[in-house]
Amino acid sequence: MARNGDLTGEVHYPSQDIIRQANQPDYDRINQAMINDLAGEWGRIAKEEFEWFEPWQTTLDSSNAPFYKWFVGGKTNIVYNALDRHLDTWRRNKVALLWEGENYDQRTYTYHQLHREVCRFSSVLRAMGVRKGDRVTIYMGRIPELMISMLACAKIGAVHSVVYGGFSVEALHGRIEDSQSKVAITADGAWLRGNVVQLKDIMDEALQRAPTVQTVIVVKRTGQPVHMEPGRDLWYTDLMNLPIAAADCFTEVMDAEDPLFLLYTSGTTGKPKAIMHTHGGYMVGVATTLKWVFDLKDEDTWWCAADPGWITGHSYIVYGPLLLGATGLLYEGAPNHPFPDRWWDIAERHGITVLYTAPTAIRGLMRFGDAWPNRHDLSRLRLLGSVGEPINPEAWRWYHRVIGNGNCPIMDTWWQTETGHFMITPLPSTPLKPGSATKPFPGVQVDVLDEDGNPVGPNEEGYLVIKTPWPGMLRTIYGDPDRYVQQYWSRFPGMYMTGDSARRDEDGYIWVIGRVDDVIKVSGYRLGTAEIESALVSHPSVAEAAVIGVPDEVRGSVIYAYCILRAGVEPTQKLVEILRDHVGHEVGPIAKPTTIEFVNSLPKTRSGKIMRRVLKARALGLPEGDLSTLEE
Ligand code: PRX
Repeated sequence: MARNGDLTGEVHYPSQDIIRQANQPDYDRINQAMINDLAGEWGRIAKEEFEWFEPWQTTLDSSNAPFYKWFVGGKTNIVYNALDRHLDTWRRNKVALLWEGENYDQRTYTYHQLHREVCRFSSVLRAMGVRKGDRVTIYMGRIPELMISMLACAKIGAVHSVVYGGFSVEALHGRIEDSQSKVAITADGAWLRGNVVQLKDIMDEALQRAPTVQTVIVVKRTGQPVHMEPGRDLWYTDLMNLPIAAADCFTEVMDAEDPLFLLYTSGTTGKPKAIMHTHGGYMVGVATTLKWVFDLKDEDTWWCAADPGWITGHSYIVYGPLLLGATGLLYEGAPNHPFPDRWWDIAERHGITVLYTAPTAIRGLMRFGDAWPNRHDLSRLRLLGSVGEPINPEAWRWYHRVIGNGNCPIMDTWWQTETGHFMITPLPSTPLKPGSATKPFPGVQVDVLDEDGNPVGPNEEGYLVIKTPWPGMLRTIYGDPDRYVQQYWSRFPGMYMTGDSARRDEDGYIWVIGRVDDVIKVSGYRLGTAEIESALVSHPSVAEAAVIGVPDEVRGSVIYAYCILRAGVEPTQKLVEILRDHVGHEVGPIAKPTTIEFVNSLPKTRSGKIMRRVLKARALGLPEGDLSTLEE
């Protein structure tokens, strides 16, 4: 409830019940302990909470910063901690994964069963010659085999590179080519809003120019006919029925710093960056943040309603919950299929106690009114979460009042693909302010800086930076260490540049404002302007393109594209549709511009850089500001 306390503005204090049961009730104490001895505290947690085949010698090695290393010399495997170790405990027969298909198919895996499936698929991959360090591309809908594939790779030390199932040909092709994957795993299709997404066709097209892939494993989900390339494509079920799919499969001993996965994310250039995470530090960071922030207990049923193809799913659908021995839910389809209460129906039927989703989904479902959630019993919910973009106070209050019945604290978690896990977030005991991600996770030190690197005053906007290393931090950009240094550690030397702007209020609460680079968040999905622009100019009718994000009530931002057509091409409405579809085919449906405007020129600086600020002002009908650097 809001009440007047020492804090300014609208503040919601947690109940005594919530504080009493919290896994980590004392923010100030643990934060101070971590600030005093960061390596010591993380070392203690890593030792107490996880199994290591061999202990590490150095907890944090900063000697070659910004190439930080954690738990140096330690041997483990994240899958050993996520699955194997639970089998000798009572959790063996606990439900690890509840799965619901969009068509209401249901599957349940206990830890024993999930481990067994992972072992069998690991054995298949090993028998095919997949070895430690090899990259495997995974491109699937939200089905259990997606998780099984990721875990099977990690178990044998292969590096998974999951490409979100909503991406299309060019995006998939670029990611396969960059990672040089030998094996790709996909499905015959994915269900979405009652339609089939043709994953296999997209894979086939992407592979036409990706010679490294020798084998494609295809999971049957929809049963629709697909092309199977002789000598290259194999059905998952056929492989799993062979004697090579042995249920006993040893877990590879990994160095703490060995790569676990690559996850491509958009940045300032057209080429997506392969963010690299490791077995040791990522494991410790992900599990600890989930335990403290969402307070997971054995009796909880956790639902992170993201896609495993993005970092939120990697960390908090796949690895985090399993590391904690929790029960998690994965849902295949759309939130409003067949009706706008599908999510609330799922939450009721599966007895969800902690729900984690994105502002865009909340706003989208809020539109349908209170009656849809109100017809469901959501009384099991105890905590709620938000991620992906700033949550507007109106959506926050609706989520709090209607979904959380006014008594579930909302954990607004700020983090990134690069950070691996939560960085700025409340704990259940933190007083909340709607729209603020509140305070740094214990031990994390952040600042808000001006152009010259000086801290700005209270409530002033500036660059959000992180001043201390953390266990789940990205280790590099795969294949491009220089870009890692240049992109994240050069603007303010010694500090990690997030790419976000923020302000800090008089209570020390952080309010993230948004990206300051050429990244656009559409429905919480991170897209690069350059990727969309290069998709547009790859069409024969377009000579030049510039893309910006403009505000949208539900999706946060939508794409607004300016195109200069080639000589002789007619600017028709039909062409607008053709170009939208072209972007959909190249990048993915989420990247389709909402508006395409044909222009004769683009505002550029004298050095040829597109002035997006000017374009944005034009799109919004606002003053264009200082044009002194304009080339025209
Ligand atoms: O701009 C911030 C926004 O999402 C960016 C990271 O995007 P991505 O790597 O796709 O990871 C998303 C899921 C972790 C950030 O730079 N962002 C993420 N969470 C929040 C947020 N902005 C405001 N509040 C948040 N809670």
